[in-house]
Amino acid sequence: MQDANTPQTQESINKNISFFQNNLESYNKNIQSLDTYKAIRQAVDQSIPDIDHLLDIGNGGVFDYDTSLVKKITALDLFLDQLPDTFVHPKNVIFKTGSALEIPEKDESFDGVLMVMLIHHLTGDTVKSSMKNMQLAISEAHRVLKPNGKFILMESCIPPWFLHFEKLVYRLAGKFAARFLEHPMTLQYPKELIGDEIQKKFNHVDITEIPLGRWVLQFGFKVPSFITPVCPTLFIATK
Ligand SMILES: C[S@@+](CC[C@H](N)C(=O)[O-])C[C@H]1O[C@@H](n2cnc3c(N)ncnc32)[C@H](O)[C@@H]1O
Repeated sequence: MQDANTPQTQESINKNISFFQNNLESYNKNIQSLDTYKAIRQAVDQSIPDIDHLLDIGNGGVFDYDTSLVKKITALDLFLDQLPDTFVHPKNVIFKTGSALEIPEKDESFDGVLMVMLIHHLTGDTVKSSMKNMQLAISEAHRVLKPNGKFILMESCIPPWFLHFEKLVYRLAGKFAARFLEHPMTLQYPKELIGDEIQKKFNHVDITEIPLGRWVLQFGFKVPSFITPVCPTLFIATK
């Protein structure tokens, strides 16, 4: 699925597939009911009504937005061809299997590209290779967007100081996650860093922090948001 230049580890790919496939129902229930994800849904809903054909990358069979606001949606993830035939999805959605790092779509084919809580899942062996994956995903989104197309990225961001901590523990935490967690390893970024990467490719980027509710998901667990440094952040850019 990915070539040698796309260094998301096989471990990350396998665990993303198994975790989100095996836990689709419970994960979706949390997304639909927890307050933080309601606020995310409201913000995404406000940003999509002007889009005809939307590519939703890292969809996972989960829609944290109102799908009726868009004419046509192509949902892309690593495992959507493996969902059972009985899996019900909205009529205006088609499921495709493929990677954010090598989008199986032609240049300039979509009016909008959406990524909700995807970027921190594109982990490589090192912090550096993970960051390269983030850049590649943004560049791929840019490639498949039509001129004037809209890029909407909702991501769980951290304060800059926390990235220093993540860098220190990345290898050890990766080994721990590989051994003891069903959830894949993740790496979250400060909004400034993601904003700079988007700015390199797109004309202009608007950045909005979404207020956290009382609960947030971390490594698949529902935790009180006050114990985490994360802040959901919405980036909107135009090609
Ligand atoms: C936290 S879930 C987000 C699901 C959904 N977008 C939402 O709003 O909750 C992250 C998703 O990213 C997917 N993912 C991880 N690596 C990917 C890649 N290289 N290409 C496409 N999707 C990927 C996972 O399979 C998973 O479904």
